[in-house]
Amino acid sequence: MLAKSHTVSFQGIDVHSVTVEVVINNGLPNFNIVGLADKAVGESRERIRACFHTIGISLPAKRITVNLSPADVPKEGAHFDLPIALSILGALKIFDSVQLEEYTALGELSLDGIINPCVGILPASLHALEYNKGIICPQQSGNEAAWTGIQNIIAAKRLLDLINHFKGDQIIAPPVMPDSVTPYAFSVDMKEVRGQVMARRGLEIAAAGGHNMLMSGPPGAGKSMLAQRFSTLLSPLSPEEALEVSIIHSLSGLLPESGLVTTRPYRDPHHSISTPALVGGGAKAKPGEISLAHRGVLFLDELPEFPRHTLEALRQPLETGEVLIARASNHARFPAKFQLLAAMNPCRCGYLGEVERECSKAPLCGKDYQSKLSGPLLDRFDLFVQMQKIDPKDLVMPADDGEDSTTIRMRVINAIDFQKERGQKYRNADFKSADLLAQLDDDAALNDLLQKAFDKFNLSARGFYRMLKVARTIADLARHEKIVMQDLLEAMQFRRVL
Ligand SMILES: Nc1ncnc2c1ncn2[C@@H]1O[C@H](COP(=O)(O)OP(=O)(O)OP(=O)(O)O)[C@@H](O)[C@H]1O
Ligand SMILES: [Mg+2]
Repeated sequence: MLAKSHTVSFQGIDVHSVTVEVVINNGLPNFNIVGLADKAVGESRERIRACFHTIGISLPAKRITVNLSPADVPKEGAHFDLPIALSILGALKIFDSVQLEEYTALGELSLDGIINPCVGILPASLHALEYNKGIICPQQSGNEAAWTGIQNIIAAKRLLDLINHFKGDQIIAPPVMPDSVTPYAFSVDMKEVRGQVMARRGLEIAAAGGHNMLMSGPPGAGKSMLAQRFSTLLSPLSPEEALEVSIIHSLSGLLPESGLVTTRPYRDPHHSISTPALVGGGAKAKPGEISLAHRGVLFLDELPEFPRHTLEALRQPLETGEVLIARASNHARFPAKFQLLAAMNPCRCGYLGEVERECSKAPLCGKDYQSKLSGPLLDRFDLFVQMQKIDPKDLVMPADDGEDSTTIRMRVINAIDFQKERGQKYRNADFKSADLLAQLDDDAALNDLLQKAFDKFNLSARGFYRMLKVARTIADLARHEKIVMQDLLEAMQFRRVL
């Protein structure tokens, strides 16, 4: 007797249909899984055998063959347990297996018959929706599936519940769609940061244009503090972006219980991170930190302390907005369109430039420390802020002197609206170089200034265009149709002078 069910396999964020065929024949008792299955799928046999035993179903002393088709697509993960178990139950005629045709099933079985949560329910539901199928998933993942708008969801707690459902003895109620979650529940606020006017303005520009920013300054100036508050300035995720981000988080098993990521991700890995953990990959081709920061922020604190080869691995994704992980048998693609925010001290002791405190090796120690960062990586930052030790006057000023995050965020959202009004469909950081010159105001003095900036900062072509992109964002914040002199002058203040 042959029975079929459907599931999916993941390669990066790409989802492929997989059919699970089971045939039970006479012959020497055996239980085989074929079709490029990895170790976790191979171990399904033992979980299924034990799970069936618990719920009182014994596997017949026959030859059970499970085929995962197409045979040339690698299958990874424990979510194959459920479709394999369902196909076997169909083949044993415990219920009519034709019902399985309408569903895509995912779930990991535990030995006591419970269906455990597994990664990737959101992309699998989208895939099922595309193929006009319903989804069978673990009970806890019901919300996640429901967000896609898929109608036919069976979110079951136990395998026995599913058997009763398909036998018609019991109906599993569809999951209740959660109310939308409230965004902007931040526990920190820009108001708490005193002084550091330049860095605050830099973050505002970075948030409005999607620019990469590097802050350098002495210990205790407030770099990490500012970075932690950057998320509070960002515009909300659009529904399409929320879905993109949630798919990646779903594949990593990091989705919140409500089922969808609604605020821009903020990832701040420690500098001891390995290259695969940062860019993705490893044995299971998991999304790395840069993909988890997709449509959000990747903050690298103490930038020069990261291993050089790890930082260099960021260069290509920073340009292309995605990462392609080559593996022996296939390729995994993950989106990685993130904003890079970084902080560093100017030298190892941290006080370079402060005459009373800098160490005896200054200024050589500064050059040595900064040389840990390659030119091409530095070239990818649009905004550089050289922070100073905080002035004691700023620290004791009344707490209500600084602007709060909501006020700044309103300006950021206003600037993004203005970009859309100008007919622009991308962030300023993604502006095509060729189109940038057309954004300049027709003014001879402006052209003259541009020429001087080119010479003064010894800019690369990329650096030159990046300065113009920043000027475009400053112009958007002021609602200037074209980049005017004052926009360019302000953008020049954010160039690197190291
Ligand atoms: N501008 C500021 N306004 C208010 N508090 C500040 C400011 N700068 C620093 N502080 C206080 O000092 C603490 C340390 O600041 P923070 O960790 O941001 O420094 P840092 O610049 O990252 O230093 P390091 O280079 O050592 O990492 C903060 O938690 C905060 O209490
Ligand atoms: Mg710090």
